[in-house]
Amino acid sequence: MLKVSIFNFKGGTGKSTTALNLGAAIAQLNVKTLLIDLDGQRTLSFGLGLDGREPTALQWLTDKAEPIATDIKNLWIIPGDIGLFRLTSETDLFIKSLNSLIPLDFDVVLMDCPPSLGLASVQAILNSDRVLIPTLCEPAALKGMSEAIGLIRGENQSIPIEVVRTRYRSRLVLTREADDLLIESGEDLNYRLLHTVIPENIQVAESIAQQSPVLTYAKTSLGAKAYKSLAKEVLKLWGLKK
Ligand SMILES: Nc1ncnc2c1ncn2[C@@H]1O[C@H](COP(=O)(O)OP(=O)(O)OP(=O)(O)O)[C@@H](O)[C@H]1O
Ligand SMILES: [Mg+2]
Repeated sequence: MLKVSIFNFKGGTGKSTTALNLGAAIAQLNVKTLLIDLDGQRTLSFGLGLDGREPTALQWLTDKAEPIATDIKNLWIIPGDIGLFRLTSETDLFIKSLNSLIPLDFDVVLMDCPPSLGLASVQAILNSDRVLIPTLCEPAALKGMSEAIGLIRGENQSIPIEVVRTRYRSRLVLTREADDLLIESGEDLNYRLLHTVIPENIQVAESIAQQSPVLTYAKTSLGAKAYKSLAKEVLKLWGLKK
């Protein structure tokens, strides 16, 4: 059971969209996948049409509740809970709850973190094997990304970090400048910049409102293709597929 936190300190960088669509794309490749929505905003749960369903992540943390099967084969979810905003207890709830999932035999667990380093994000990162950081490709957004890496390294010095560029607009000079910065700073900050980029794509944004992954909503869209490539790239990197 490989545990991956999807985190960025900055808001609106495509964390929940990536959890949803990468999770669906990985599941399509016959990898048993669990999504855990750790954000009180619950965008991920909403995107799968399962906002409001119980047991929620808060119930899972406190009562060891079981995940819910989604309509997509191999894809399960523990939905978000507005009460996660109030989660302040310093106990080892996360370790116990994650360990309770072991008998269910998930290959991958993707945890969608809120855009802050509160208890949910810290505990998710401390208990993960890897961190995936979605970032916008703009010089201003990269400041947030390097701050996020500093915060992650403060919690877990040696955890592998992968960075994925989202809402990518290849024609812009701004994007090329940010690309150069991302390539340059990979070595200093010790992260891997993923080859796959997720383009700015209207079908990706629409699919959230339609409450389904872009892979189902618009199979042939550039967004769906990009998330399929991302799934293949990370599964190879994470040692889960050849
Ligand atoms: N590839 C894309 N193309 C177009 N729009 C996108 C794309 N990815 C995300 N979006 C849109 O960007 C907005 C932010 O995305 P999302 O909610 O995934 O970010 P987030 O990092 O989870 O935000 P938060 O920090 O609030 O949790 C949403 O409106 C979403 O529909
Ligand atoms: Mg989010």
